[in-house]
Amino acid sequence: MSFLGNFFKKKSGSVLGVDIGSSSLKVVQLKKEHGKAVLETYGELALGPYAGEEVGQATNLAPEQIAETLRDLMREAKVTTKEAGVSIPFARSLLTLVTLPYRENPKEQRTVIELEARKYVPVPISEVQLDWFVVPDSGTSDGAQKKHVEVLLVAVHNDELKFLQNVVSGAKLAASFYEIEIFSTIRAVVNEPVKPVMVLDIGATTTKAYVVERGVVALSHAIASGSQDITRAIAASKNLTLSRAEALKKEQGLVGGDASTPETVFSRIFSEARRVLMQYETAHGKAVTTIVLTGGGGVTKELRAYAKQFFSIDVQIADPFAKTEAPAFMRPVLEEIGPEFAVAVGIALRKLES
Ligand SMILES: Nc1ncnc2c1ncn2[C@@H]1O[C@H](COP(=O)(O)OP(=O)(O)OP(=O)(O)O)[C@@H](O)[C@H]1O
Ligand SMILES: [Mg+2]
Repeated sequence: MSFLGNFFKKKSGSVLGVDIGSSSLKVVQLKKEHGKAVLETYGELALGPYAGEEVGQATNLAPEQIAETLRDLMREAKVTTKEAGVSIPFARSLLTLVTLPYRENPKEQRTVIELEARKYVPVPISEVQLDWFVVPDSGTSDGAQKKHVEVLLVAVHNDELKFLQNVVSGAKLAASFYEIEIFSTIRAVVNEPVKPVMVLDIGATTTKAYVVERGVVALSHAIASGSQDITRAIAASKNLTLSRAEALKKEQGLVGGDASTPETVFSRIFSEARRVLMQYETAHGKAVTTIVLTGGGGVTKELRAYAKQFFSIDVQIADPFAKTEAPAFMRPVLEEIGPEFAVAVGIALRKLES
């Protein structure tokens, strides 16, 4: 399966967002025009068939195979630029918010962070790329002297970066950055800058749950269950092939009397997500105001209504293409498929800014 769109001719200044998911590749090409992000083309290609698996199922391909698929996808989607940014899977990264001693001198602060980071990274620090972000106005600010700062530590293993670099060079792209997918998603789908929002990225293999507050990831967690598990559950309960079950899942979602199987899987995923939400609320003494559903699983019919009932708070379906300019007649399609492309849109948006 692939759905593609290409509505503008080649122009310079175009950038490409590349999302290497476990079940499919997605690309989004944008360009800047009059200060706006204009959608030039997008496309998706399932990896399953390249790995002897069904569409919608997770794969474990070598970088050369992914590069080949990516070349196919770029050809089909008529991608015209080599200037790319690429996502890093959340599962391959370490993200943790820690409280560290405050130092007024930025150089000393840096040393403190680098030393302390070793305690949180479970492998030798030489094996990872480390990055961090000091949360603005964290720490004690009640007139008392500031003693602590909150720091978001981010580490990615060198092997993972090497893997992605091999994909990029194999696809003859030029990547200027690699970004952990949840940051891309936040850029593409979170509109509320201040209040705590929980994002649920329902992928094929995993569901990424994270709480974003003031643009910072306060809490993140990977749930080891995703939309491929729904397909498998439908196949098992109805004695269908995976490809029939996949089609049925997309056709029916949570509509009608046959919804009990997908509901069982979603209720398991949501129960775990609720624990993340409550952990955040207890630790920070603040309520999460909205849940944003994204990822391919976020496209599931009637999922929003089910999630609203489950969590009893406001639930939105991600609409990342809303941050791009596109022809009006494309809007209904873009809205529908949006959740799958959130990561790729977010990366392309960052690349446009740089
Ligand atoms: N219309 C739909 N209804 C229900 N499920 C859908 C729909 N469209 C896609 N999916 C499911 O979404 C999943 C793919 O989602 P996505 O593309 O976000 O995953 P991924 O990025 O490849 O995986 P991961 O993020 O776990 O690595 C597949 O299991 C697919 O069956
Ligand atoms: Mg994904």
